[in-house]
Amino acid sequence: MKLLVTGGAGYVGSVCAARMVESGHEVVVVDDLSTGHIDAVPDGCRLVQADLADVADPLLAEGFDGVLHFAAKSLVAESMADPAKYWAGNVLASVRLLDAVQRHGTPRLVFSSTAAVYGEPDQVPIPESAPTRPTSTYGATKLAIDHAITSYATAHGFAAVSLRYFNVAGAHGRFGERHTTETHLIPIVLQVALGQRDEVKIYGTDWPTEDGTCVRDYIHVTDLADAHLLALEHAVPGEHRIYNLGNGTGFSVRQVVDTCREVTGHPIPATVAGRRPGDPATLVAASERAQADLGWKPERPTLETMVTDAWTFARLTPRVRRSSD
Ligand code: UFG
Repeated sequence: MKLLVTGGAGYVGSVCAARMVESGHEVVVVDDLSTGHIDAVPDGCRLVQADLADVADPLLAEGFDGVLHFAAKSLVAESMADPAKYWAGNVLASVRLLDAVQRHGTPRLVFSSTAAVYGEPDQVPIPESAPTRPTSTYGATKLAIDHAITSYATAHGFAAVSLRYFNVAGAHGRFGERHTTETHLIPIVLQVALGQRDEVKIYGTDWPTEDGTCVRDYIHVTDLADAHLLALEHAVPGEHRIYNLGNGTGFSVRQVVDTCREVTGHPIPATVAGRRPGDPATLVAASERAQADLGWKPERPTLETMVTDAWTFARLTPRVRRSSD
């Protein structure tokens, strides 16, 4: 298939683009490189460095078999401070993309949605039927795009799938997580092990969880990429299907830090800080729907594997990280 990957220079987008190339697909990446890295675009992909909203129409006019849409602003705290950046950057750009998909008859779209659309859940594990009450502007913009996709897919007959990721972790060879502003737990902890930070702050030890720290469902980025391939195959014309992607197992912040200590052999000093605003106590996915409909099964479900792969990546790329950040 000829595939357009938006945001293919970012963490999840680059891994998915690499996986698509490995599977024999022709991949064009569109990325404005505002948060992505040029060296993260996999070999064999054509890179169009541009704002998606500007180029979606002329690009899709070339004729594509599918679009994988990752391009987005994705910092929860920033989304609360600067909502315009998120409504314009995420929602307006996505509507431009949907207009182009419809106009040029692109048959398939897979969208990178998020567990952040659910907000504080009533039940855990969280099924796709759970109420969507995002607690951040970031989550609200992703939910708005999900709604727009439903309208466009049903009105215009293309096949659409939204994948709601829980906490993505790990790396796929030379493709991994390196954000200029790092807020995610595992990369921050590994920066301590690399000597780039003195300590990790644990945001709250008074949560209603077993050890008092927040619990999250971590999913290996390669397993996530494989779900995108399956979503492309199983997408149904005129339908917008939504799937949660996680392992169905929660790990606390303390468990993550302990696993990083075991994998790296570094003591990783940790101090207790106050709660981070907007954090739900526990987020764990019910992913049975993806397993049943897509035949998806996570092949790398252990935290050890995810941390080991992220650690290999972090040690291989510190020079790249410093020069490009
Ligand atoms: N945490 C710390 N210290 C840190 C960083 C994080 O204690 O230095 C804690 C957080 O408070 C949270 C947990 O580690 O309890 C995981 O935090 P991350 O920032 O790694 O991930 P989030 O669960 O906040 O966010 C992830 C995605 C978001 C998405 C969200 C959906 O990264 O894009 O899941 O719930 F919106």
